[in-house]
Amino acid sequence: MRTPLIAGNWKMYGSRERVGQLIADIRAQLDPNGRAELLVLPPFPYLGLVGSQLDGVPVDLGAQDVSAYSEGAYTGEVSAGMLADCGCSHVLVGHSERRTLHGESDELVAAKFIAAQAAGLKPVLCVGETLEERDQGQTEEVVQRQVGRVLQEAGIGAFSDAVLAYEPVWAIGTGRTASPVQAQAVHAVIRAQLAAEDATIAGQVRILYGGSVKPDNAAEILAREDIDGGLIGGASLQAESFMAIYRAANQVC
Ligand code: 13P
Repeated sequence: MRTPLIAGNWKMYGSRERVGQLIADIRAQLDPNGRAELLVLPPFPYLGLVGSQLDGVPVDLGAQDVSAYSEGAYTGEVSAGMLADCGCSHVLVGHSERRTLHGESDELVAAKFIAAQAAGLKPVLCVGETLEERDQGQTEEVVQRQVGRVLQEAGIGAFSDAVLAYEPVWAIGTGRTASPVQAQAVHAVIRAQLAAEDATIAGQVRILYGGSVKPDNAAEILAREDIDGGLIGGASLQAESFMAIYRAANQVC
Protein backbone atom coordinates (compact mmCIF):
# COMPACT_ATOMS: atom_id res chain seq x y z
CA MET A 1 0.00 0.00 0.00
CA ARG A 2 1.42 3.35 -1.02
CA THR A 3 1.68 5.99 1.70
CA PRO A 4 -0.36 9.06 0.72
CA LEU A 5 1.49 12.33 0.26
CA ILE A 6 -0.14 15.73 0.57
CA ALA A 7 2.05 18.48 -0.87
CA GLY A 8 1.42 22.21 -0.63
CA ASN A 9 2.74 24.26 -3.54
CA TRP A 10 2.65 27.83 -2.22
CA LYS A 11 3.62 29.23 -5.64
CA MET A 12 4.65 32.91 -5.42
CA TYR A 13 2.61 33.75 -2.34
CA GLY A 14 3.62 34.58 1.20
CA SER A 15 5.60 36.82 3.50
CA ARG A 16 7.78 36.01 6.49
CA GLU A 17 4.82 36.63 8.74
CA ARG A 18 2.28 34.58 6.76
CA VAL A 19 4.67 31.70 6.22
CA GLY A 20 5.56 31.60 9.92
CA GLN A 21 1.91 31.51 10.92
CA LEU A 22 1.06 28.87 8.34
CA ILE A 23 3.76 26.51 9.60
CA ALA A 24 2.76 27.07 13.23
CA ASP A 25 -0.85 26.24 12.33
CA ILE A 26 0.16 23.13 10.34
CA ARG A 27 2.29 21.90 13.24
CA ALA A 28 -0.61 22.33 15.64
CA GLN A 29 -2.85 20.12 13.50
CA LEU A 30 -0.50 17.22 12.79
CA ASP A 31 -1.97 13.84 13.60
CA PRO A 32 0.61 11.58 15.27
CA ASN A 33 -1.40 8.55 14.13
CA GLY A 34 -2.00 9.82 10.59
CA ARG A 35 -0.65 7.75 7.72
CA ALA A 36 -0.36 10.60 5.23
CA GLU A 37 2.95 12.38 4.74
CA LEU A 38 3.14 16.14 4.34
CA LEU A 39 5.39 18.23 2.13
CA VAL A 40 5.49 22.02 1.83
CA LEU A 41 6.99 23.87 -1.14
CA PRO A 42 7.61 27.52 -0.22
CA PRO A 43 9.14 30.16 -2.50
CA PHE A 44 12.97 30.09 -2.44
CA PRO A 45 13.51 33.00 0.01
CA TYR A 46 11.48 31.26 2.73
CA LEU A 47 13.11 27.83 2.53
CA GLY A 48 15.53 28.58 5.37
CA LEU A 49 12.84 30.04 7.62
CA VAL A 50 10.41 27.18 6.99
CA GLY A 51 13.18 24.60 7.30
CA SER A 52 14.15 25.92 10.74
CA GLN A 53 10.52 25.84 11.87
CA LEU A 54 10.20 22.25 10.68
CA ASP A 55 13.27 21.03 12.53
CA GLY A 56 12.26 17.73 14.15
CA VAL A 57 8.73 17.99 12.71
CA PRO A 58 7.52 15.24 10.34
CA VAL A 59 6.80 17.57 7.44
CA ASP A 60 9.12 17.53 4.44
CA LEU A 61 10.50 20.61 2.72
CA GLY A 62 10.79 21.11 -1.00
CA ALA A 63 11.31 23.78 -3.64
CA GLN A 64 9.19 24.65 -6.65
CA ASP A 65 11.90 24.58 -9.29
CA VAL A 66 15.59 23.83 -9.77
CA SER A 67 18.33 24.52 -12.25
CA ALA A 68 19.44 21.76 -14.60
CA TYR A 69 23.06 22.85 -13.89
CA SER A 70 25.03 21.99 -10.78
CA GLU A 71 26.82 25.35 -10.55
CA GLY A 72 28.15 28.17 -12.66
CA ALA A 73 27.38 31.57 -14.13
CA TYR A 74 23.59 31.12 -14.29
CA THR A 75 22.27 34.29 -12.71
CA GLY A 76 19.01 33.80 -10.89
CA GLU A 77 19.17 30.01 -10.92
CA VAL A 78 19.28 27.76 -7.86
CA SER A 79 21.02 24.38 -7.98
CA ALA A 80 19.78 21.09 -6.60
CA GLY A 81 22.86 20.91 -4.36
CA MET A 82 21.95 24.27 -2.83
CA LEU A 83 18.42 23.10 -2.17
CA ALA A 84 19.67 19.92 -0.50
CA ASP A 85 22.13 22.02 1.52
CA CYS A 86 19.20 24.15 2.73
CA GLY A 87 17.26 21.13 3.98
CA CYS A 88 15.08 20.30 1.00
CA SER A 89 14.22 16.68 0.32
CA HIS A 90 11.97 17.28 -2.72
CA VAL A 91 11.68 19.60 -5.69
CA LEU A 92 8.99 20.10 -8.32
CA VAL A 93 10.09 19.73 -11.92
CA GLY A 94 7.97 20.51 -14.94
CA HIS A 95 5.11 22.30 -13.20
CA SER A 96 2.76 23.50 -15.94
CA GLU A 97 3.39 27.13 -14.94
CA ARG A 98 7.06 26.54 -15.71
CA ARG A 99 6.28 24.71 -18.93
CA THR A 100 3.82 27.28 -20.25
CA LEU A 101 4.94 30.61 -18.75
CA HIS A 102 8.67 29.92 -18.88
CA GLY A 103 8.83 27.75 -21.97
CA GLU A 104 10.32 24.68 -20.30
CA SER A 105 10.62 21.79 -22.73
CA ASP A 106 10.32 18.08 -21.96
CA GLU A 107 14.07 17.89 -22.50
CA LEU A 108 14.81 20.60 -19.90
CA VAL A 109 12.38 19.03 -17.43
CA ALA A 110 14.19 15.69 -17.83
CA ALA A 111 17.54 17.41 -17.21
CA LYS A 112 16.15 19.03 -14.05
CA PHE A 113 14.82 15.65 -12.88
CA ILE A 114 18.28 14.12 -13.31
CA ALA A 115 20.02 17.09 -11.65
CA ALA A 116 17.68 16.84 -8.65
CA GLN A 117 18.39 13.15 -8.14
CA ALA A 118 22.13 13.65 -8.58
CA ALA A 119 22.00 15.94 -5.54
CA GLY A 120 19.94 13.47 -3.52
CA LEU A 121 16.59 15.23 -3.94
CA LYS A 122 13.35 13.47 -4.84
CA PRO A 123 11.92 15.09 -7.95
CA VAL A 124 8.15 15.55 -8.16
CA LEU A 125 7.59 15.30 -11.90
CA CYS A 126 4.50 17.27 -12.95
CA VAL A 127 2.64 16.39 -16.13
CA GLY A 128 -0.71 17.36 -17.59
CA GLU A 129 -2.58 18.42 -20.69
CA THR A 130 -4.11 21.77 -21.62
CA LEU A 131 -7.83 22.15 -22.22
CA GLU A 132 -7.24 22.33 -25.95
CA GLU A 133 -5.27 19.08 -25.88
CA ARG A 134 -8.01 17.37 -23.85
CA ASP A 135 -10.70 18.62 -26.22
CA GLN A 136 -8.72 17.20 -29.13
CA GLY A 137 -8.48 13.81 -27.43
CA GLN A 138 -4.72 14.13 -26.88
CA THR A 139 -4.60 13.74 -23.09
CA GLU A 140 -2.95 10.31 -23.04
CA GLU A 141 -0.50 11.17 -25.77
CA VAL A 142 0.62 14.40 -24.07
CA VAL A 143 1.04 12.87 -20.64
CA GLN A 144 2.84 9.82 -22.03
CA ARG A 145 5.17 12.08 -24.01
CA GLN A 146 6.01 14.12 -20.89
CA VAL A 147 6.63 11.03 -18.76
CA GLY A 148 8.32 9.25 -21.66
CA ARG A 149 11.00 11.87 -22.08
CA VAL A 150 12.09 11.46 -18.46
CA LEU A 151 11.94 7.68 -18.76
CA GLN A 152 14.12 7.87 -21.84
CA GLU A 153 16.72 10.15 -20.22
CA ALA A 154 16.72 8.88 -16.62
CA GLY A 155 15.57 5.26 -16.96
CA ILE A 156 12.83 3.45 -15.07
CA GLY A 157 15.11 2.87 -12.04
CA ALA A 158 15.06 6.61 -11.36
CA PHE A 159 11.32 6.44 -10.68
CA SER A 160 11.88 4.36 -7.56
CA ASP A 161 13.09 7.60 -5.97
CA ALA A 162 10.66 10.07 -7.46
CA VAL A 163 7.06 11.20 -7.24
CA LEU A 164 4.72 11.99 -10.14
CA ALA A 165 1.95 14.55 -10.19
CA TYR A 166 -0.84 14.67 -12.74
CA GLU A 167 -2.08 18.24 -12.99
CA PRO A 168 -4.45 18.96 -15.87
CA VAL A 169 -3.62 22.55 -16.81
CA TRP A 170 -7.31 23.44 -17.16
CA ALA A 171 -7.96 22.47 -13.55
CA ILE A 172 -5.18 24.55 -11.97
CA GLY A 173 -6.44 27.56 -10.06
CA THR A 174 -9.68 27.53 -12.05
CA GLY A 175 -11.97 25.91 -9.51
CA ARG A 176 -12.59 23.29 -12.18
CA THR A 177 -11.46 19.85 -11.04
CA ALA A 178 -10.99 16.74 -13.09
CA SER A 179 -13.69 14.35 -11.95
CA PRO A 180 -12.36 11.48 -9.85
CA VAL A 181 -13.07 9.20 -12.82
CA GLN A 182 -11.15 11.44 -15.26
CA ALA A 183 -8.21 11.76 -12.87
CA GLN A 184 -8.09 8.04 -12.08
CA ALA A 185 -8.11 7.21 -15.80
CA VAL A 186 -5.00 9.32 -16.46
CA HIS A 187 -3.24 8.05 -13.34
CA ALA A 188 -3.83 4.49 -14.55
CA VAL A 189 -2.38 5.38 -17.96
CA ILE A 190 0.77 6.74 -16.31
CA ARG A 191 1.14 3.71 -14.06
CA ALA A 192 0.69 1.36 -17.01
CA GLN A 193 3.36 3.27 -18.93
CA LEU A 194 5.80 2.73 -16.06
CA ALA A 195 4.66 -0.88 -15.56
CA ALA A 196 5.60 -1.66 -19.14
CA GLU A 197 9.20 -1.00 -18.02
CA ASP A 198 9.08 -2.32 -14.45
CA ALA A 199 5.92 -3.50 -12.71
CA THR A 200 7.40 -3.34 -9.21
CA ILE A 201 8.53 0.26 -9.52
CA ALA A 202 5.24 1.21 -11.15
CA GLY A 203 3.36 -0.34 -8.25
CA GLN A 204 5.36 1.62 -5.71
CA VAL A 205 5.61 5.08 -7.26
CA ARG A 206 3.24 7.69 -5.89
CA ILE A 207 1.16 9.62 -8.38
CA LEU A 208 -0.41 12.76 -6.91
CA TYR A 209 -3.36 14.61 -8.38
CA GLY A 210 -3.30 18.40 -8.55
CA GLY A 211 -5.83 20.93 -9.79
CA SER A 212 -8.37 22.68 -7.56
CA VAL A 213 -8.24 20.08 -4.80
CA LYS A 214 -10.25 21.46 -1.87
CA PRO A 215 -11.51 20.04 1.43
CA ASP A 216 -14.91 19.30 -0.10
CA ASN A 217 -13.65 17.27 -3.08
CA ALA A 218 -10.47 15.75 -1.59
CA ALA A 219 -11.95 12.55 -0.15
CA GLU A 220 -13.56 11.35 -3.37
CA ILE A 221 -10.45 12.11 -5.43
CA LEU A 222 -8.01 10.58 -2.94
CA ALA A 223 -10.11 7.42 -2.60
CA ARG A 224 -9.30 6.36 -6.18
CA GLU A 225 -7.00 3.41 -6.61
CA ASP A 226 -4.15 5.08 -8.48
CA ILE A 227 -4.33 8.47 -6.75
CA ASP A 228 -1.76 8.52 -3.97
CA GLY A 229 -2.10 12.05 -2.69
CA GLY A 230 -2.52 15.62 -3.77
CA LEU A 231 -0.45 18.53 -5.00
CA ILE A 232 -2.36 21.45 -3.58
CA GLY A 233 -2.05 25.06 -4.70
CA GLY A 234 -4.62 27.59 -3.44
CA ALA A 235 -5.96 25.46 -0.61
CA SER A 236 -2.44 24.95 0.79
CA LEU A 237 -2.13 28.63 1.69
CA GLN A 238 -4.52 28.29 4.62
CA ALA A 239 -3.73 25.71 7.30
CA GLU A 240 -7.43 25.09 7.79
CA SER A 241 -8.04 23.88 4.23
CA PHE A 242 -4.63 22.23 3.78
CA MET A 243 -4.99 20.20 6.95
CA ALA A 244 -8.60 19.30 6.11
CA ILE A 245 -7.22 17.69 2.93
CA TYR A 246 -4.53 15.96 5.02
CA ARG A 247 -7.24 14.58 7.31
CA ALA A 248 -9.21 13.36 4.30
CA ALA A 249 -6.08 11.55 3.09
CA ASN A 250 -5.65 9.92 6.48
CA GLN A 251 -9.20 8.67 6.33
CA VAL A 252 -9.47 7.37 2.79
CA CYS A 253 -6.02 6.26 1.73
P1 13P B 1 -4.65 24.80 -7.38
O1 13P B 1 -4.85 23.80 -6.26
O2 13P B 1 -4.68 26.21 -6.91
O3 13P B 1 -5.55 24.52 -8.53
O4 13P B 1 -3.14 24.56 -7.91
C1 13P B 1 -2.73 23.31 -8.27
C2 13P B 1 -1.28 23.35 -8.53
O5 13P B 1 -0.82 23.90 -9.52
C3 13P B 1 -0.40 22.73 -7.54
O6 13P B 1 0.90 22.61 -8.05
